Amino acid sequence: MNLVLFGPPGSGKGTQAERLRKRMGLRHISTGDLLRDAVAKGTDLGRKVQGILAAGQLVSDDLVLALMREAMAAPAGETTKGWLLDGFPRTVGQAAGLDEMLSELGQGIDALVVLNVSRDAVIERLSGRRTCTQCKAVYHVKYNPPAAEGRCDRCGGSLVQRDDDRPETIARRLDVYEAQTQPILAHYRGRIPVHEVDGERPVDEVAQSIERALQ
Ligand code: AP5
Repeated sequence: MNLVLFGPPGSGKGTQAERLRKRMGLRHISTGDLLRDAVAKGTDLGRKVQGILAAGQLVSDDLVLALMREAMAAPAGETTKGWLLDGFPRTVGQAAGLDEMLSELGQGIDALVVLNVSRDAVIERLSGRRTCTQCKAVYHVKYNPPAAEGRCDRCGGSLVQRDDDRPETIARRLDVYEAQTQPILAHYRGRIPVHEVDGERPVDEVAQSIERALQ
């Protein structure tokens, strides 16, 4: 199954993607993770996009589409049952670029899952988010704390706050989402199944709602 996980920053896309990856054997492709990796490794791309990520703005469509082409062409490893896109597409131009890429590959999107979460909930979630520097696992100081403070349960790596999880940057990311990303839904409605899920429920309940919607 090929899925797109859609929703505002902090709606739980990464959290649910990890569960879907394990449960359905899907390959998780997150443009945010790919871009942050490039920054961490100091590649040419990383140097170009570092300031854009920190400011909560979007990286240009041509750079993101080139990155996605490379990611989709990479060997799938053990996850051969389909893919799960997280944080992409994010503009109408990226959605059109994805259509083109998929038609070349002879593939399609089976469903798009929208996680609906209010602005206030997003702000609370992102202010308390901590991410593992090694395996990228995601925690929350209140809703999903690690067993030992500052240490990843999964790999023992150290947990940090993302550069773009500061209050003024969170507000900008939400504005960018509303202006540039939400309009994509109109591109997909009527063409593929679009499932809206209440993303403000606890993590397990959200996972169950997604499972039910995809059955
Ligand atoms: P990206 O990494 O894609 O960030 P995002 O879309 O802003 O989403 P987040 O990762 O912040 O949140 P999430 O929805 O995954 O939530 P999470 O599961 O972590 O993009 C970052 C930047 O990269 C962009 O701003 C842009 O600059 C650039 N970029 C990326 N893709 C791009 C593209 N396609 N085009 C251009 N630029 C691009 O959960 C958040 C917190 O809430 C966690 O602490 C978690 O534990 C907690 N939580 C999750 N679910 C629940 C729940 N049900 N109840 C309570 N707490 C919960």
